[in-house]
Amino acid sequence: MDMETRDAPPQPARRNFLKKASAVLIGAVTGLVPAISGLIVFLDPLRRKSQDNDAVLVASLSSLPEDGVPRKFSVVADHTDAWNRMPRVPVGAVYLRRLGDKQVQAFNVICPHAGCFVDYVPARKSYHCPCHNSSFAADGRIADPKSPSPRGLDELPIEIRNENEIWVRFQNFRAGVKEKIPA
Ligand code: FES
Repeated sequence: MDMETRDAPPQPARRNFLKKASAVLIGAVTGLVPAISGLIVFLDPLRRKSQDNDAVLVASLSSLPEDGVPRKFSVVADHTDAWNRMPRVPVGAVYLRRLGDKQVQAFNVICPHAGCFVDYVPARKSYHCPCHNSSFAADGRIADPKSPSPRGLDELPIEIRNENEIWVRFQNFRAGVKEKIPA
């Protein structure tokens, strides 16, 4: 290669190629920003849904009888469906049962057989489902082996906060199956 070729300025074709490549790169980066924002908005309901089973304040310890007889309470919480967030709506109900000074057991009121609401029958000290006669002991287990329910009542985790508040991690579960699968 002689000196003249080495020191020659870049050819116009090469300059054009670099210009076009930069334009494509800038265009791609600029296009990615709205695409990523759109993806975040699209996924947002899914993110919010994952917060749905945060614990909610349901009752006070002092509102439960100390003899262990269950009491029914509504669960009121923020509810998120596919695209909307609705504040403070009834999302279900639970039976709360005091087991000790600071110990409480919580059951979803929905029968695991086919989704009816169970009733607590004090005379029998058990829960009864009026739809197909499943019966459950006070501790949630199936009481009558002829019960069609495939599992006992669905127990829910609770926390006692500020000495007297019962917070429940409310959740519904799939009906008609032996396993406790979140619905
Ligand atoms: S729904 Fe409760 S026994 Fe069928």
